[in-house]
Amino acid sequence: MVKDTLTLTDNRTGKSYEIPVQNDSIRASDLRQIKVSDGDFGMMSYDPAFMNTASCASRITFIDGDKGILRYRGYPIEELAEKSSYLETAYLILHGELPTRAQFDGWAHDITFHTIIHENIKKFMDGFHYDAHPMGMLVSTVAALSTFYPDAKEIFVPEARKLQTHRLIGKMPTLAAFAYRHSLGLPYAYPDNELSYTGNFLNMLFKMTEVKYRPDPVLERALDVLFILHADHEQNCSANAMRSVGSSQADPYCSVAAAAAALYGPLHGGANEAVLRMLGEIGSTGKVPEFIKEVKAGKGRLMGFGHRVYKNYDPRAKIIKEVAEQVFEVTGRNPLIDIAVELERIALEDDYFIKRKLYPNVDFYSGIIYQAMGFPVEMFPVLFAIPRTSGWIAQWEEMLLDAEQKIARPRQLYLGEDKRSYAAMEQRGTSAGKTDPTRPRKAA
Ligand code: CMC
Repeated sequence: MVKDTLTLTDNRTGKSYEIPVQNDSIRASDLRQIKVSDGDFGMMSYDPAFMNTASCASRITFIDGDKGILRYRGYPIEELAEKSSYLETAYLILHGELPTRAQFDGWAHDITFHTIIHENIKKFMDGFHYDAHPMGMLVSTVAALSTFYPDAKEIFVPEARKLQTHRLIGKMPTLAAFAYRHSLGLPYAYPDNELSYTGNFLNMLFKMTEVKYRPDPVLERALDVLFILHADHEQNCSANAMRSVGSSQADPYCSVAAAAAALYGPLHGGANEAVLRMLGEIGSTGKVPEFIKEVKAGKGRLMGFGHRVYKNYDPRAKIIKEVAEQVFEVTGRNPLIDIAVELERIALEDDYFIKRKLYPNVDFYSGIIYQAMGFPVEMFPVLFAIPRTSGWIAQWEEMLLDAEQKIARPRQLYLGEDKRSYAAMEQRGTSAGKTDPTRPRKAA
């Protein structure tokens, strides 16, 4: 009979161990029984950057990186992008099921009810420099919301969690739009609750002197689709930050601020901004081969390419490429798309990219659409953070309700100095107090 176990032999001692296998994984803590002596701490697994470590069990998002598959709660991303709306998808991600009509109406009402922010947040926003990066403003103001809602500390009260969820999803577009208007010196435009989630966001961004802002339906839908595509992506850097900070039982505003800070970096959600800058620097399709040569020589990366999990075409990038054409029908063609398409064509034929399985990711084409819609590049990571908020909250709540989870606290291999004595300053030579740091030590 086939056994669901793994037999390991420690060649240092000759002992064998039988370790249970569940879901094609072993528990790292089962390795602790492997010891050389009684006083030994036990075997650990070493996995910098979590290349092969599952930090949780999750039922939210499924990715098959080799096949290029992405599903939220079992629903293929392609179907959701075609048939759903962002608010409905956010409900699905958070509740596990698609809403009935009554559930959806209640949900949309609850989110809309919480779009307005306290007037003091506006004053807070006014303190930023005119050229402050909107992502820095978003990270700080979402953290500041924690001070307005002390009830957010009640993280184990389901009703309190629900309220913070409505507030966070409702207020993120408002904070983002206010950050944008602050950078332009424009008066803040208040939410219009008769509009859709993305329609209202466009209203708060672009309303000028008109009494009622009417979003272009093509752009409104395109933004909604982009929001669906960005809603969750399992255990990425920012979801991991959300879970990690949340595991200390910090309130969800502070945890979302931490997640948004993680998203800000150019290797994560800041990549869409970096792609646009890169395309601008390349300047024309004729310069693409030269640029690819430089990337291959190690002078920078082809931004918007490659992914830790996808070793195939990112399914989101495929959808975004189609959305781009719809947007250009309204806004006119963004000439950077030609450079992007040429980059993709050459890279996908090149051995360097083929061997490393580097394909366009979600950030490769999204920025080109955002730019065509009139967003400055600094707003791109902000446009990622708004829809990802529903995913972060779902990841956070799943972590809180998981009986196996505790405060996230990885181990380390200590390779530093062994114990040594303090030497007075006058007595410090170049080799004072040196020890031989060759043996790793483990702290309890
Ligand atoms: N351009 C050129 N070479 C690359 C790239 C790239 N974009 N990405 C990876 N490589 C090379 C890398 O140099 C390495 O080569 P070698 O084996 O010769 O050292 C190999 O491919 C593996 O790369 P890695 O850095 O070990 O892979 P990773 O899984 O740690 O990194 C990544 C994943 C997304 C950070 C990386 O592919 C990257 O920096 N891409 C550009 C930034 C980007 O587009 N980020 C957005 C990711 S998707 C949305 C999101 O997460 O927010």
